[in-house]
Amino acid sequence: MLYRRVLITGANGLLGQALVAHLSRQPEYDVLATGRDTFPRFANASCGYTALDITAPQEVQRLMQDFTPDVVINCAAMTQVDRCEKERDLCWRVNAEAVEHLARACRRIGARLIQVSTDFVFDGADGPYREDARPDPVNFYGKSKLAAENVTRDAGIDGWAIARTVLVYGTAHNLSRSNIALWVIDKLSKGEPIQVVTDQWRSPTYVNDLANGIERIVRFGKTGIFHLSGREMVSVYDFACTIAHVFDLDASLISPTDHTHFQQPAPRPPRTGFIILKAETELGYKPHPIEDALRHLGTRLGLPTPTS
Ligand SMILES: NC(=O)c1ccc[n+]([C@@H]2O[C@H](COP(=O)([O-])OP(=O)(O)OC[C@H]3O[C@@H](n4cnc5c(N)ncnc54)[C@H](OP(=O)(O)O)[C@@H]3O)[C@@H](O)[C@H]2O)c1
Repeated sequence: MLYRRVLITGANGLLGQALVAHLSRQPEYDVLATGRDTFPRFANASCGYTALDITAPQEVQRLMQDFTPDVVINCAAMTQVDRCEKERDLCWRVNAEAVEHLARACRRIGARLIQVSTDFVFDGADGPYREDARPDPVNFYGKSKLAAENVTRDAGIDGWAIARTVLVYGTAHNLSRSNIALWVIDKLSKGEPIQVVTDQWRSPTYVNDLANGIERIVRFGKTGIFHLSGREMVSVYDFACTIAHVFDLDASLISPTDHTHFQQPAPRPPRTGFIILKAETELGYKPHPIEDALRHLGTRLGLPTPTS
């Protein structure tokens, strides 16, 4: 049998764990998961794990030479948008410079690179966006991720791909960072009120769908940019209300507000979201409708979803 050797960086994060679970279930992949921690945060995946800080070029080079992957999927990033605005040097090292080193290492051994990117490369003036829309980030996180896209494209790798995504939600073991769905469920379950913006629109993405879309890029050997998100455009407020509805939580605890209410260091693009026709056509990507994805999440969390 011919195995594809896949190296996953940032494997302890939300997407990294979903990808490890998805790929290591399939016999044609030989997966090496890597993350900053000495040990993996997940269990029961049939794959190897080794510690790797992507900002250490020599470590990256050594591991690439030892494992000789066919494909590298870079899920490692500094993803806290406000922290990126304040800690710009660190953000640039992780999100941009480290990708340049990864890309060079891929070119040396002839590996493909799939770089995971974001809707925050756009200014949010007129989403939803197609893959060929002009990026124009409004915050430092978006700038660093756009720089990573550029080094991925320009490194001289034959098989590069960029998988952009939007407002990812789901669950995984010991996450260092929560996400909108887990946050809303947690707060409303405790009866705590929350304020959510009505003036930011997104096409929220269930992490399992995203992992499935990325696996299809690998399987079909696709190159170029792909937009992988959910299909529905909603305000973040409406998304929170749908979460309350699906989990039968008290939606009256959610107060609508707008972005001016929050003092955030990094500006947010108002209306992003993606047109996913290319991924649907070329990859056969079929994301779950939001309510179905939330019910699937409920099953994973062991929570009842009485509205099904
Ligand atoms: N989540 C979203 O809403 C969203 C939206 C658009 C695009 N994206 C993109 O999707 C990708 C995956 O994000 P995610 O949602 O899975 O975020 P995440 O849960 O924060 O995962 C990122 C992972 O990268 C790891 N990491 C950070 N610096 C590293 C380094 N120097 N070396 C190795 N690993 C490092 C983090 O480690 P620690 O756990 O130790 O911190 C974390 O496990 C990122 O490229 C992100 O930009 C995410």
